[in-house]
Amino acid sequence: MKLIASVLAILVSSLALENGLMRTPPMGWLAWERFRCNIDCKNDPHNCISEKLFMDMADRLATDGWRELGYVYVNIDDCWMAKQRDSAGQLIPDPERFPRGIKALADYVHARGLKLGIYADLGTHTCGGYPGTTFNRIEQDALTFAQWGVDMLKLDGCYSSACEQAEGYPRMSKALNATGRPIAYSCSWPAYRGGLPPQVNYTLLANVCNLWRNYDDIQDSWDSVLSIVEWFSANQDVLQPVAGPGHWNDPDMLIIGNFGLSYEQSLSQMALWTVMAAPLLMSTDLRTISESSQQILQNKLMIKINQDPLGIQGRRILQEKSRIEVFLRPLSHSASALVFFSRRTDMPYRYITSLAQLNFTQNAVYEAQDVYTGQIISGLKATNNFTVIINPSGVVMWYLYPTMYLHQPFSFVKQLSEA
Ligand SMILES: *[C@@H]1O[C@H](CO)[C@@H](O)[C@H](O)[C@H]1NC(C)=O
Ligand SMILES: *[C@@H]1O[C@H](CO)[C@@H](O)[C@H](O)[C@H]1NC(C)=O
Repeated sequence: MKLIASVLAILVSSLALENGLMRTPPMGWLAWERFRCNIDCKNDPHNCISEKLFMDMADRLATDGWRELGYVYVNIDDCWMAKQRDSAGQLIPDPERFPRGIKALADYVHARGLKLGIYADLGTHTCGGYPGTTFNRIEQDALTFAQWGVDMLKLDGCYSSACEQAEGYPRMSKALNATGRPIAYSCSWPAYRGGLPPQVNYTLLANVCNLWRNYDDIQDSWDSVLSIVEWFSANQDVLQPVAGPGHWNDPDMLIIGNFGLSYEQSLSQMALWTVMAAPLLMSTDLRTISESSQQILQNKLMIKINQDPLGIQGRRILQEKSRIEVFLRPLSHSASALVFFSRRTDMPYRYITSLAQLNFTQNAVYEAQDVYTGQIISGLKATNNFTVIINPSGVVMWYLYPTMYLHQPFSFVKQLSEA
């Protein structure tokens, strides 16, 4: 199964968009979920969509240990523009909220070792009613972003038809390439077409975009997280094979640090996004984030798993009657990530299983590290039963690797240098 997955990954990547970007899922910060279209800088200067907000977040990313872990994108979403293009037809930022302009903001972000993402919409207007990128503007807007020093573009799809999207999304990809500046490209296209074939051609998407939003916008609630996980899992036969280095499914932002998730649910979102090889784009206020949320988002082993170089998306491999679900992501060096997820609402559940029941080969001895507690379980044979205690709406996550192979002509002990 692992072999098939890697062969698929190689096949898909050989066809993929060749801008060399996002060989692992992108990490950073995106304004939308937490700050939306708040343009009221008069009454809410601290939280409105303005250059100050993005400079503040760039400062936090550079100062509080985020950048070193890989969180490098500072991404603008909707509502940054002036209501009209300028006399040359060029997009311009709102002059009061971005008085120094986007080029200066890009310089500010770059000076801190970070990258700047921006937002546009293929259509007559953005979702928030700002100037859209119509066909006659695609090349011009790509050039504008490149001249400003932008590193990533999220192209939304409000106010355009299926036909316009089928022409426009690939055209923007060409236009970005033609600027000569490497600009990662996030396409909202599939989310506007139901996210599934035959309306969505994922082979084509992987040729055109670095990542794509497949499904609904995330909201600040556990229900929203659950509905996203359910949709991605129910459709994993379609979605899992199309992800790989340079081209990723995007279940949308991390809402950890906001108002809608309990501590356990925050652990779950992080674990499930990681096992899905999802982009880790936080949308929270990094100026006031709690210590516990920051610890979840800055878990080193978690990030190592998310950023695994093979870039194979995980799958839900089991749904138990007890409402425990098991997710598995194959990783490099024959390692795996396992997530035991509880949809229960009663009390911590003692789930008993064995690696053999999860289809692990019986000719190895394994070691597991609990990703959140750091606890190590060694000498685990596939047939050994073990118990994980999973809190309601919580997870237990393991990083699992073989330490010894049995019944082979030359059995050997694998060095754990990479662990
Ligand atoms: C443009 O595409 C070509 C061929 O696909 C690729 O080699 C090149 O690196 C791309 N350039 C940019 C700036 O994305
Ligand atoms: C999907 O797109 C690919 C690449 O452009 C193309 O070769 C293939 O025929 C398309 N598949 C369908 C079902 O249209």
